[in-house]
Amino acid sequence: MNNIEKFPADFIWGTATASYQVEGAFDEDGRGLSIWDTFSKTKGKVLHSHNGDVACDQYHRYKDDVKLMKKLGIKSYRFSISWSRIYPKGFGEINNSGIEYYKNLCDELLGAGIEPCVTLYHWDLPQVLEDRGGWRNRETAQYFSEYAETVFRELGSRVKMWITLNEPFCSAMLGHATGEHAPGIKDINIAYKVLHNLYLAHGLAVKIFRDDQFEGEIGISLNLDRPRPASGSIEDKKAAEISEIKGARLYMDPLYGRGYPQWLFDNDSDFDPDIKEGDMQLIAQKLDFIGLNYYTEQAALFQNETNWKAQTTDIDKSEMGWDIIPEGLTRLLIWMSKNYNNPEIYVTENGGAFIDKLSEDKTSCIDPERVSYLDSHFSACKKAIDKGVNLKGYYLWSFLDNFEWAFGYTKRFGITYVDFVTLERIPKDSFYFYRDYISTNGLVGSKLVWSQLRCCSTMQPYLLAYASKGALS
Ligand code: NOJ
Repeated sequence: MNNIEKFPADFIWGTATASYQVEGAFDEDGRGLSIWDTFSKTKGKVLHSHNGDVACDQYHRYKDDVKLMKKLGIKSYRFSISWSRIYPKGFGEINNSGIEYYKNLCDELLGAGIEPCVTLYHWDLPQVLEDRGGWRNRETAQYFSEYAETVFRELGSRVKMWITLNEPFCSAMLGHATGEHAPGIKDINIAYKVLHNLYLAHGLAVKIFRDDQFEGEIGISLNLDRPRPASGSIEDKKAAEISEIKGARLYMDPLYGRGYPQWLFDNDSDFDPDIKEGDMQLIAQKLDFIGLNYYTEQAALFQNETNWKAQTTDIDKSEMGWDIIPEGLTRLLIWMSKNYNNPEIYVTENGGAFIDKLSEDKTSCIDPERVSYLDSHFSACKKAIDKGVNLKGYYLWSFLDNFEWAFGYTKRFGITYVDFVTLERIPKDSFYFYRDYISTNGLVGSKLVWSQLRCCSTMQPYLLAYASKGALS
């Protein structure tokens, strides 16, 4: 049986969340509103008109959450900072209660032996900045860098791992081209300009981090879309090339000093970012790592010379309707590694929404599909490491069920079930699977072995010890 998956000893196992999705306390202690407060309260934007007013209430429950994280055994917790808790008006006067909250959260984590990993921007722009043009306005990048500097200064002694932006694709495209996300604009030409301003914000923040010599590592989290060709035909190969440009190279190339892909200037009349002298150099600041958020891989079908479309497949899907395709993660990691000079990479998000079965007495929750999803994606990471990818860690999305943006609370990604009425947390089977996987650093790399161990829980400690010696291979 091939179930030995030993990861490097210093591999970082973590979990991830984001402020608007888990914090709640939307109007407490001086927090200003963000575009997601406004968007979720605009009729028809979020399923069932759900919003993040309470979410998982992590703002009040962070101490208990950290206790649970300690039981899980993670080495790092990735969370994001709500910009409007720090600057309710986007810039100017600092709200000290906001800073205090994040200092307390970090202290609690550090006390539990868990390293904080901070995302500065996970989509919740202060509403007052949106009112001044949001990310369409180049000035927003400047305000972001001031906010970033404040956070580096205030939390720098506690935080050694920083992520500037989470999934700029979503802020730009879902927020400004399809309008599915806040602020709900539908104009692709604007979306590209927004992307450029987001990248300027990223560059300015990294530059400050370097110039002011803050300690630690800084990077960015991208969701790259790099479909495989749907068939071996020349047309579908071409479709895959186009999709690689639009979904992966557009985001990677500028960070590595290669500018935006020329193909976009030549073939997409909507691609017209307002580039000023020095912008591309600013964007290409040296990164310590690149974060990859991976959920699925699509298959590209040829549509025409400049467009592709996704093939419908009969591959198993998660509740989001996304194909479950762990090999895609290995492929993407290898592609990043080969094409961008073998950078340090973290998987900063990976996980799945599935239907969970909560026991009647609400003490346990069975989620075999998630266990299976995780197991196969851990193996995909290990395969990439074996092929030379410099993968340093993995953050599971998500620690808790939470507010899944336009889907509200209808999609559960957590390894901890959240009862959104009582706010009680109930670890799912996948929580225990991840705990055991971490504690053996991957040696329980097979859900089969794990479920055998789980069947006879009294024997579990002995069997785990046994397994860690390789005896179950
Ligand atoms: C990526 C986003 O960063 C996160 O906020 C979201 O909940 C997950 N994907 C799942 O869709």
